[in-house]
Amino acid sequence: MNDAKQDQKVHWAANTYDESMSFVSSFGEDVLSWLNPQAGEIIVDFGCGTGDLASAISSQGSEVIGVDISPEMVERARLKYPHLTFHRADGMGWKADRAYDAVFSNAALHWMKDADAAVDSMTAGLRNGGRLVVEFGGYGNVATIIEAVRETLQANGREDAFVMPWYFPQVGEYASLLEKYGMEVRFAQLFDRPTVLNNGENGMKDWLEMFGTAMFPKTEQYEMGLWIEESTRRLKDKLYDQGVWTADYRRLRVLAVKR
Ligand code: BEZ
Repeated sequence: MNDAKQDQKVHWAANTYDESMSFVSSFGEDVLSWLNPQAGEIIVDFGCGTGDLASAISSQGSEVIGVDISPEMVERARLKYPHLTFHRADGMGWKADRAYDAVFSNAALHWMKDADAAVDSMTAGLRNGGRLVVEFGGYGNVATIIEAVRETLQANGREDAFVMPWYFPQVGEYASLLEKYGMEVRFAQLFDRPTVLNNGENGMKDWLEMFGTAMFPKTEQYEMGLWIEESTRRLKDKLYDQGVWTADYRRLRVLAVKR
């Protein structure tokens, strides 16, 4: 990954993320029930963002280790939850210095395009019998948004600027990958989860500014603004209704156990 792309991806404004993208953690609470954290367990929150779900896990009496690549996110997580442990590290290379009972990840793994490296990272320190509970963007996730951005770039003669920044696998592909790393997949499901964006009529613009620009990372600021506007316009018929934007999220949720 080149430096420009890396910068684009990891330097999110943590306060904007907390304020405008709060649905990320809210939906994560549902996945958390699959984790079922127990008192005394050591649990890794892989791609922990600003730490809200790590805090929820720790409230069950488990010890949590949060890991995230973004310095801003980790800084904010430490400020919000000073009693918890957070490491700033790339999930495609991080290795724990101690064994843990479970690894949890919500809305993060689609950013780790080297999925092999991410699975290696998550499972290396997992004890035998330990569980992996993850949810992230699955095959077809935000396909309507991606298509609108591609059409926008094409209409402006700039298809060359497009980068696919995410990994959205099928069930079979991801299950096979986990098996390669000694995991037994107990449950895997790909499902539609239309997601209402915060901030009313500005919801899609906010989303594209925060996440969508990863699709055209090496672009001048003024051009980015124009492409966001044009993409938003193209999406209006499809994803906007009565003041509300709904993104076409599809989730892949997996529960697996280390053999
Ligand atoms: C997601 O959670 O599915 C997602 C978030 C940001 C960019 C792409 C996908």
